[in-house]
Amino acid sequence: MNAKTELLEARDLTRFYEVSQGPFKPHAVVKALDGVTFSVATGKTLAVVGESGCGKSTLARQVTMIERPTSGQLQFDGFDLVKASNQQLKEARQRVQMVFQNPYGSLNPRKKVGSIIGEPLVINTALSKSEREEQVRSMMGLVGLRPEYYGRYPHMFSGGQRQRIAIARALMLRPKLVVADEPVSALDVSVQAQVLNLLMDLQHELNLAYLLISHDLSVVRHIADDVMVMYLGKVAEYGESEQVFRNPRHPYTRALLASTPHLKPQNRQEHIVLKGEIPSPLAPPAGCVFHTRCPYANERCRTEVPQLRKLDDGRQTACHGIEEGRV
Ligand SMILES: Nc1ncnc2c1ncn2[C@@H]1O[C@H](COP(=O)(O)OP(=O)(O)OP(=O)(O)O)[C@@H](O)[C@H]1O
Ligand SMILES: [Mg+2]
Repeated sequence: MNAKTELLEARDLTRFYEVSQGPFKPHAVVKALDGVTFSVATGKTLAVVGESGCGKSTLARQVTMIERPTSGQLQFDGFDLVKASNQQLKEARQRVQMVFQNPYGSLNPRKKVGSIIGEPLVINTALSKSEREEQVRSMMGLVGLRPEYYGRYPHMFSGGQRQRIAIARALMLRPKLVVADEPVSALDVSVQAQVLNLLMDLQHELNLAYLLISHDLSVVRHIADDVMVMYLGKVAEYGESEQVFRNPRHPYTRALLASTPHLKPQNRQEHIVLKGEIPSPLAPPAGCVFHTRCPYANERCRTEVPQLRKLDDGRQTACHGIEEGRV
């Protein structure tokens, strides 16, 4: 977390959405991302985890420059993405690519796989057709697709192979950062491991940084260097993956881990079972946003927002109970 070669740095990154409540009512504001600070070093993986609606994809849309943040700072590879001109954003966008959950939805069914993978080269380079084809075939080999499949159509591939196609396309412009939003959650468990292994191999080969988004902690266990646990747009816990998985501290992280098969921590902490639903992001709880589901919540938790604080071991948590030594 303290590496000097940060590729991506976000400080107090915030994205609000105005939503209509009906014709004669004032707009409500969803604080989808509410002051999030993190960094990703070159060649490293930050996993962002949390339940549905906690703001993971919103974070991805800021980092991939699909949207502009409401406030905060976002630096990537020498670019200030908040203040960048359109020309700078265009340059920066080539160095960040995205892989989505559903590869079929993002692959044009009428195009051959070779031209799908080569598309970024058509748009962004002056390479000839044969040069492009050569690069596509070599990338197909790199992601474990037989180059003979160049002329096939997406429907002729399995889910795992389609995700390899999407990964190949994402890598054609040699990005420095790949944002992968639930890249394996649509795949069978046996195929998930293959795609995750491929991502790790490619990371070493190409010195890629990953922002890996998943609601499933078992997916990020082996691939993440750092983990950031989010709840209702805020960071609950953020630290080295090894530490967070071995000894989760925030009650929300503990509950998430306890509910993930095979990942229950070995230590003697009391298991926390998450009760109830996530509160509506339109009316988040006062104080600590997690207090309505936290077995340790007291009066302070119900009224005072906890700040993210560094613990002795370097990780950060936002929890009054940890700070007071009662959690
Ligand atoms: N364009 C938008 N307009 C209004 N609200 C939005 C918009 N995009 C996201 N939200 C809201 O912001 C919150 C965070 O959404 P987001 O999609 O980032 O969550 P997520 O963690 O990716 O969830 P999931 O695991 O279901 O993909 C949600 O309450 C969502 O309804
Ligand atoms: Mg999402």
